Amino acid sequence: MPKVTVHRKAHFNAAHRLYRKDWSDAKNNEVFGKCSNPNFHGHNYELIVSLTGEIDQETGFVYDLGKLRELIKKEVEDSLDHKNLNIEVAEFKDLNPTAENISVVIYNKLKKHLPTNLKIEITLYETQRNFVSYKGE
Ligand code: NI
Repeated sequence: MPKVTVHRKAHFNAAHRLYRKDWSDAKNNEVFGKCSNPNFHGHNYELIVSLTGEIDQETGFVYDLGKLRELIKKEVEDSLDHKNLNIEVAEFKDLNPTAENISVVIYNKLKKHLPTNLKIEITLYETQRNFVSYKGE
C-alpha cells in the first residue's frame, strides 16, 4: 500500500527561561542572551505532528486525525499550555526548555500512544521564523 504522511497542527502558549543551574548568571547571559531573563518570557508555540505509514485498507486512513487531535490535546496541550515550563512541567526540571528539547519531550509523550508502525515527526515553531523538527533519531 502507498505510504502517506498525515499532519495535525496544534498550538500552545508557554513561558520559559533558558539557563543552566550549574552556570553563573554571567555565563547564562552570555550563551542564552535575553532568553535567560530570570523573570521568564512567553512564546506562542505552533506544533505540527506528522505521521507516516501505509494507508489502512479498511478505513482508508493512515491514522484517524480525530484520534490524533485528542491525543495531542491530552498529552501536549493539557500538560504544556499556559504553563511555565521550567517550574510546572516535570520533564524540564533538569532539562533546558529549548525548542529542541521541547520537541523531543513531545515526541516521547506521543510515541507511547501511537502504533509502532507509524513514523512520527514533530515540527515545533517557537517563533514564525525559528522552528525545529525531530524524528526520533
Ligand atoms: Ni524563549
